[in-house]
Amino acid sequence: KETKDQLVIDAGQKYFGATMCKSCGMIYSASNPEDEMQHAQYHHRFLEGIKYTGWKRERVVAEFWDGKILLVLPRDPSYAIRKVTDVQELVDYELGFQQVVPKCPEKTKTFLFVSDDKRVVGCLIAEPIKQAFRVLSEPTGPESSGSKENSRAWQCSNVPEHAVCGISRLWVFKLKRRKRIARRLVDTLRNCFMFGCFLSINEIAFSDPTQDGKLFATKYCNT
Ligand code: ACO
Ligand code: ZN
Repeated sequence: KETKDQLVIDAGQKYFGATMCKSCGMIYSASNPEDEMQHAQYHHRFLEGIKYTGWKRERVVAEFWDGKILLVLPRDPSYAIRKVTDVQELVDYELGFQQVVPKCPEKTKTFLFVSDDKRVVGCLIAEPIKQAFRVLSEPTGPESSGSKENSRAWQCSNVPEHAVCGISRLWVFKLKRRKRIARRLVDTLRNCFMFGCFLSINEIAFSDPTQDGKLFATKYCNT
């Protein structure tokens, strides 16, 4: 658990206050034994979860100067599926998701961005869909204007639109964000989701986007 918002009084002790771990990205207070213990646990689990030792067979779908993107399909060997499960668990923990069972697991495509230092630093999980509802950036209608509860929740159109591919998870390791990893994952997805065609922006949809997800999607869809 992160303690980002915890208020501390710096009374001059050497290790007082919040620190961000340079390996796992957790922010914790080194002066608090409970915090330190939570960090030790998270640190170990996180680094084990994202470690990529290399597989006998891997499906490389894109290569870059700082890493590569692997595609994992439901019938792949158990070592690949296990890694996807581990990464998804970390992602869901970070996103605060309950276990969500994908609607058609046999059609799920998982893209992992593996960095040069052999870690899974990005993950995109996609599944086929038939329709999606557009997120409306501004609350519309008289019933929502001026209402505080409504202003922070996304408003969705109730007109279904044709779509092909739903992104159910998109995640980049905290310390690797803003390096275009998410962008490269979505580009690769569009290229690989359906054989022989490049999906248009309108054919992909983000399910239940977070604040980060919405900021990314807005930027991605306009460029
Ligand atoms: N705030 C503002 N703009 C952003 C942000 C942000 N937090 N993140 C991305 N953007 C915009 C920027 O314009 C960025 O370009 P720039 O860096 O040149 O300005 C552009 O999007 C491309 O960003 P990337 O570098 O490709 O995105 P990144 O690799 O950092 O990953 C992501 C974005 C996946 C949303 C990451 O912040 C993350 O993992 N967040 C936590 C998990 C999460 O919320 N995921 C989305 C859930 S929604 C879903 O899963 C369907
Ligand atoms: Zn750590």
